[in-house]
Amino acid sequence: MLTVALIGYGGMGKMHGKCYAALKDVVKLVAVADVTPESGVEKYAEEMGAKYYTSGNDLLAAETPDIIDICLPTFLHTEYSVKAMEKGCHVFCEKPICINEEEAKLLLETEKKTGVKVQVGQVVRFMKEYKWLKKAVDEGRYGKVISAVFTRLSCNPRWAWENWFNDPEKSGTMALDLHVHDVDFIRYLLGEPDTVESKCTRDSEGVLQQIFTTYTFGDTVVTSEGIWDYPDKFPFSPGFRVKMEKGTAVLNRGLMFYPVDGDPFVPEMDAEFEGKLDAGLNVSSLGGYYTELRYFIEEIIEGNGKPIAPLSEAIKSAQLVWKEIESAGGKVKK
Ligand SMILES: NC(=O)c1ccc[n+]([C@@H]2O[C@H](COP(=O)([O-])OP(=O)(O)OC[C@H]3O[C@@H](n4cnc5c(N)ncnc54)[C@H](O)[C@@H]3O)[C@@H](O)[C@H]2O)c1
Repeated sequence: MLTVALIGYGGMGKMHGKCYAALKDVVKLVAVADVTPESGVEKYAEEMGAKYYTSGNDLLAAETPDIIDICLPTFLHTEYSVKAMEKGCHVFCEKPICINEEEAKLLLETEKKTGVKVQVGQVVRFMKEYKWLKKAVDEGRYGKVISAVFTRLSCNPRWAWENWFNDPEKSGTMALDLHVHDVDFIRYLLGEPDTVESKCTRDSEGVLQQIFTTYTFGDTVVTSEGIWDYPDKFPFSPGFRVKMEKGTAVLNRGLMFYPVDGDPFVPEMDAEFEGKLDAGLNVSSLGGYYTELRYFIEEIIEGNGKPIAPLSEAIKSAQLVWKEIESAGGKVKK
């Protein structure tokens, strides 16, 4: 049985917290830390039989679990991931992995030096609709990808701790925080683009709020759009349309496939967790979050071969976002 400590019990920390309750057969949560008592962290620690710390640094000073899971605001990812790696702990860190090239370099160097395993929360790689698409494209089941459109639309995440998402120095803006999900998946699906061109909109303070990017991969054309300043009641809407030679896959609330010949159908997707360890449940309501954490645990216990969401991949995705920001006029804030 592996041990894990969770740092950060905000929106994403609570999601991971639920996953650890569902992963009791393979991992024991030994400690959890959050600087905000109102987050409910103490009660959660009590329920899980774990220790509670009032800061991530206190936890790191006292605990050496097998895994440290970092669900902190992005500007703290590098500092805490490096400290955790230096302790010899495997690290699961939320996306986006880091804010700039300097941090990326330090993370890669520390990973190499310490030899621990690092997985980044590029959760879309583990979501069943996207997993289905990746497998279909890899197998060439419906022929070559001709074009694709990926979208991720949201209202503004003002609910976070100290409104950190809206500080471009802390989040890297919507492009790095939200849009990185699609950037990462597009790279996973099609590799590195030949060309990248972006345009963005900004708010009255000059902060990037919406980005439109066109990528080419040979003669395949892909676009993506990310936005997080739609009105507050606007529902979170991720989706895609991928046109292949023999049909078009559409994710819009649910996944549908429209073949060139024949009737549309709902594709059969893999269960959320597909691995060697017996999950004890088929499809988890915790979706890709459960799947990615269970996958990482399995990777540590048994090794999965080629990791799905390693540090190096998350860094390449962040680098592509930085390139897009540059293409859209540079600077996250003007
Ligand atoms: N994978 C996804 O789908 C997804 C979704 C949302 C957020 N995220 C990512 O997860 C990370 C966290 O985002 P969030 O939405 O949970 O933010 P949040 O603001 O809701 O939570 C952050 C928490 O960290 C705590 N904190 C701050 N400094 C701390 C410290 N030094 N020690 C301990 N606790 C500290 C805060 O009190 C807060 O509870 C971000 O990188 C974000 O981009 C990923």
